[in-house]
Amino acid sequence: VPYNSLVAPEDLDKVRAVRWDGGGLLLLDQRLLPGKVRYLNLRNAGAVAQAIAEMAVRGAPAIGICAAYGVVLAIRDRYARNPSTWRRDVEADVELLGRARPTAVNLRWALERMTSRIAACSGGNPYRELLQEAEAIHLEDIQANRRMGALGAALIEGPCQVLTHCNTGSLATGGYGTALGVIRSAYAERNVTRVFVDETRPWLQGARLTAWELAADGIPATVLVDAAAAHLLRRGAVSWVIVGADRVTANGDVANKIGTYGLAVLCRYHKVPLMVVAPSSTIDLRVEHGAAIPIEERDPAEVLFCAGRRVTPEVEAINPAFDVTPADLVDVLVTERGVVLRPSAAKIHGLFDESARSA
Ligand code: MRU
Repeated sequence: VPYNSLVAPEDLDKVRAVRWDGGGLLLLDQRLLPGKVRYLNLRNAGAVAQAIAEMAVRGAPAIGICAAYGVVLAIRDRYARNPSTWRRDVEADVELLGRARPTAVNLRWALERMTSRIAACSGGNPYRELLQEAEAIHLEDIQANRRMGALGAALIEGPCQVLTHCNTGSLATGGYGTALGVIRSAYAERNVTRVFVDETRPWLQGARLTAWELAADGIPATVLVDAAAAHLLRRGAVSWVIVGADRVTANGDVANKIGTYGLAVLCRYHKVPLMVVAPSSTIDLRVEHGAAIPIEERDPAEVLFCAGRRVTPEVEAINPAFDVTPADLVDVLVTERGVVLRPSAAKIHGLFDESARSA
């Protein structure tokens, strides 16, 4: 795609949430953003599992990448303790990491890839080989995001304004981002002029994280309360709604941050196209449809309290972290393997068959 502007997409990607520093995992603590930029220094698999569960790191691809590095830390410990039983010993760590969060399939995907690599290890100290695998997972994710950025941006005719939900940027991935990667690329091509950012209650991934990334890149951003999206769409202010995914099932149903389904319904009513951007590590061919996706229920306190202060009387709250958008409501699914218009089971399978043929 020729860029006819002064902004290069590589200049629009300034943050790395996950870094391997040679001895351990440096993780940007996303709970403190945008107020404080502080990296956690994690030295064992248990600490990585805890960081994922407590949302110091979040976003489907970033969770998978961290889990892969978590396996590297586990192997380092287990091999040092007992070089003859490490393969069996490390299974408990893989299981612990796998339980950290239930919805994003990238976690299972990354752990299965690391487990296959363990099975292929010839002998001797496995640390180097496993570190290389984790680094490959990390690098491939950034490459997939760049590719999706170009593919998705090619669909956007501008100049126009878009709306996004949650955080799908450099913080949520290995770098660049999924939906936010498309937005970055389309901004670089001068086809996106402004990004409306849903605040994304209760964790405020939009207000705290997406707004922070966009501000760092100098991309015009406007934050709104989630409930204001309908009003904006009705007024014709938004040409595309662009979101990421935590799991896409074999028929094209999409689990993503709570509120995505509502946006999808709004999009169809207002004839605004919905673009879902997700790498193939987010596609789960083993699950046929969205009703079978485990949806994480988080602590009601996240809803009952706001910035440490209780905002409700003594009542109950529900706190589903994700919802499922039926494939019917998705206009475009962008993956690094290609673009799927109006996803269906046949088209999703075709995506994998075609790539296998051309590989
Ligand atoms: O609970 P979170 O913050 O981990 O949820 C993240 C999302 O729902 C994102 O939209 C999704 O992981 C795609 S990120 C590239």
